[in-house]
Amino acid sequence: MKSSFLSRLLDHTEKIDKQQVVDYLVEVAEERDLLRFIFDSMMEGMAVIGSDMTVSYLNRAAADLFGVEDIDEVLGKPAQRIIRNRRILQLCEEGFHALEGNLHRELFLRMEDREIYLETNVVPLHLPRNEFAILLLFVDRTEERRVEERLRHAEKLASLSTLTAGMSHEIRNPLNSLSIHLQLLRRKLRRREDQDGETMEILGVLENEIKRLNNVLTSFLNAARSDAASFIRLSPRSLITDTLALMRPDLENEGIEVIVHEEGEVPEIRGDPVQLKQAFINILKNAVDAIKEASQTLLEEGRGPGERRVTITLVSEEGQVNFIFTDTGAGILDSDMQKVFEPYFTTREGGTGLGLMIVSRIVHEHHGDVNIRSRIGQGTQVIVSLPMAPEPTKLLEHAAFPAATETE
Ligand SMILES: Nc1ncnc2c1ncn2[C@@H]1O[C@H](COP(=O)(O)OP(=O)(O)OP(=O)(O)O)[C@@H](O)[C@H]1O
Ligand SMILES: [Mg+2]
Repeated sequence: MKSSFLSRLLDHTEKIDKQQVVDYLVEVAEERDLLRFIFDSMMEGMAVIGSDMTVSYLNRAAADLFGVEDIDEVLGKPAQRIIRNRRILQLCEEGFHALEGNLHRELFLRMEDREIYLETNVVPLHLPRNEFAILLLFVDRTEERRVEERLRHAEKLASLSTLTAGMSHEIRNPLNSLSIHLQLLRRKLRRREDQDGETMEILGVLENEIKRLNNVLTSFLNAARSDAASFIRLSPRSLITDTLALMRPDLENEGIEVIVHEEGEVPEIRGDPVQLKQAFINILKNAVDAIKEASQTLLEEGRGPGERRVTITLVSEEGQVNFIFTDTGAGILDSDMQKVFEPYFTTREGGTGLGLMIVSRIVHEHHGDVNIRSRIGQGTQVIVSLPMAPEPTKLLEHAAFPAATETE
């Protein structure tokens, strides 16, 4: 890029004295610093790659994306050494082949410690002396994507709630009637003298199946319903203690050890205890299922039952309290990871696939977030982050003033 000062300087080379050259150069340097400052302040990433695939320019946002600390140090170096992401490099190469016109791509990238959604543009640059380069422009759309995802989720929830309300109404009535008639039948059979054990057994199966259907309907209704939450200040520790009291039979039956661990001082949160307990129960039930599955696989492979443990860690950071549930279960396949919060997605026999959807609804109603990390064969970590309760307002200052008396 030729500076306007430089152009003027070149136009008057014969007439100018040394001092003027110095002044011009100072102005050029200032102009360059200003441009650098502007480009480095932009949220958008910019990178210029020469036709020999060397990096000619990076602004701060692009350098951050590629993990570069000192920009000057990487200028002139091969792009392959700086941009380690295969898909971005491919895009550069495509940019050189599509000599005219911009390229627009949306990329979903797995970086070392996070996943990002980038909108990228490749603009061809025809430089003086027939040189050719490309300008890569990046905009990080991860947050927008997340918001869109939540919105889509909320829409799904809304249509699910209409559907379930109608459906459960239609199914519950005939189910109730079936259940009543089965009871009548059972009573009649009991009165008969030639009682037949097999018939009674069949009746039992029918009654149990009806009960199961009823439970499924109740879960569907719970998933769709959003009860008005009543928020109070809560201690994270006692929330976990109360949840574990409810889950104890399931955990003990399966011989699962539970460790609760508090890292440092864990402040209070604000929330609805009933709903939060429901969310934690769903997470713990999934952990129990996953541990059962892992043990089953290990036993089938003749490798003993394996570890059966759930660790619950409470830790606060940056205005949040994190509830981290770590299990030693079977883990989640990478290909399933995107789907686990979707309604009806299940890999469990008899599962409705609504558990995590309920968790996500409750946590989002508490202005929190839920994230899952998992390694197949090693276990899963579900992290629920909830905002800390605000400091109670201090009213002590008022005590310094004498209270007004009625006689005054
Ligand atoms: N801790 C976990 N370990 C391994 N897989 C898990 C874990 N939590 C969830 N999953 C996976 O996510 C799926 C969806 O979970 P979700 O709780 O929504 O439904 P579900 O457990 O299958 O059925 P439901 O909770 O309705 O009985 C599960 O089927 C399982 O594949
Ligand atoms: Mg579940």
